[in-house]
Amino acid sequence: MSDLTSFVERERPRLLRELSDWLRIPSVSTLPEHAGDCRRAAGWIAGRLRTLGFRVESVETERHPILWAEGPAAPPGAPTILCYGHYDVQPPDPLDAWITPPFEPTVRDGRLFGRGTADDKGQVFCVVAALEGLKAATGRLPLNVRLLIEGEEEVGSKGLTAFLSAQPDRTIADAVLVTDVHMVAPGFPSVDTVLRGIVHAEIHVRTLKSDLHSGLYGGAAPNAIETLSHLLTRLKGPDGKIKIAGIYDRVKRPSAKELKAWKRLPIKEKGFRAEAGAKALTGERRYGFLERIWARPTLEIHGIVGGFVGAGAKTVIPAEATAKLSIRLVPDQRAGEVARQLGKAVKRAAPKYADVAVTILSASDPVQTGLDAWPFAALDRAFKEVWKRGVSPIRSGGSIPIVPLLQQRGAPVLLTGIGLPDDGLHGPNEKLNLEQLWRGIVLFGRFFELMASGGRS
Ligand code: BES
Ligand code: MN
Ligand code: MN
Repeated sequence: MSDLTSFVERERPRLLRELSDWLRIPSVSTLPEHAGDCRRAAGWIAGRLRTLGFRVESVETERHPILWAEGPAAPPGAPTILCYGHYDVQPPDPLDAWITPPFEPTVRDGRLFGRGTADDKGQVFCVVAALEGLKAATGRLPLNVRLLIEGEEEVGSKGLTAFLSAQPDRTIADAVLVTDVHMVAPGFPSVDTVLRGIVHAEIHVRTLKSDLHSGLYGGAAPNAIETLSHLLTRLKGPDGKIKIAGIYDRVKRPSAKELKAWKRLPIKEKGFRAEAGAKALTGERRYGFLERIWARPTLEIHGIVGGFVGAGAKTVIPAEATAKLSIRLVPDQRAGEVARQLGKAVKRAAPKYADVAVTILSASDPVQTGLDAWPFAALDRAFKEVWKRGVSPIRSGGSIPIVPLLQQRGAPVLLTGIGLPDDGLHGPNEKLNLEQLWRGIVLFGRFFELMASGGRS
């Protein structure tokens, strides 16, 4: 551990420079104009891994390449770890809300600001730097390391799903480390035992052949935005309850024991509300806020497109409108089933005069992990040594579409990270606290050492 600490002490400026170089590449996976940047971001981390002696395979998909990297040979009998993360990022909008531009990483108050700092380049870099630190200390890696770094996580992991479905043996490992989540609070390391699934969709409404003068036709011609608004209110009520038939059938409530354990976590309703920047919390009031964000299915509208939104005035009845939305899923819901339920609910709610269609953008199941496998004990111990506190089991409301397939060959999946809840994922001014990064390098290095010795030394 002291070797790792001095590695970090010594190499900080270079590591910060390197991570900043990677962050400067705007690898926004959902925007076609950034396809070249996604490829460059993949190439950047591939080069970094090759320098460390990794053999790197770049696997083509319909969109952005997947990287599969295997570390240099470890001592005979050493265990195998598979580390997962993603190099793609979410769009940076709204741009004018950023204090410094999203793709010009900047340090303020010990925090590195920029898109991808926490989600997920910074956390992938942290693991790679830990491997470098281990290698610097001993000249080799003490265990077999595989890295799986994709560029389509933020758009549903379609390419990686096809890859791991065709080659399930790639997931054979003693543990899979997924560093794409954050700890529950500063000084309070955690492991996620549940991630929500997601059904991501668009609802298109057409009510007219083309837009009409709202004076000449208003009062008689059907308005697409109005129709869409009514339709959306039929999917979810102001009480937070989703009104899609059958959607709650498989939802399992957390055990009384789990709910009680959440009360001891350093995350309270008041602080959560303040961090969200809301005057009040909404949703299903009969459940506590943690149950609402971690253990209840939810439906959120992400954006509505339609009508006239330019500067100035234009009196028009829009012919078309689209809503982008997603439904988060909890154990034991199934994404395919919920997608069908959504389709039926929209059909039932659609008025006869409108053409309404649902497009499913992506669908992934929720995941649940156990905490009994020995690598959890190694992780817990590494955190105890480096963070002075072991891991608390928590849940997360977010989704990582590939995790169900990472589990397919039975490897225990460890969902953990060094990011913090206020990192601003997907929002403006996303950041990573540098102290978390530096300590994280020591932490993961120590975890790999403990894994290598079977969690015993
Ligand atoms: N890293 C996040 C998910 C996450 C964040 C899980 C924090 C737990 C704690 C991931 O990059 C993400 O944003 N996933 C998307 C998936 C979707 C676009 C298919 C999400 O959850 O919206
Ligand atoms: Mn992520
Ligand atoms: Mn994300």
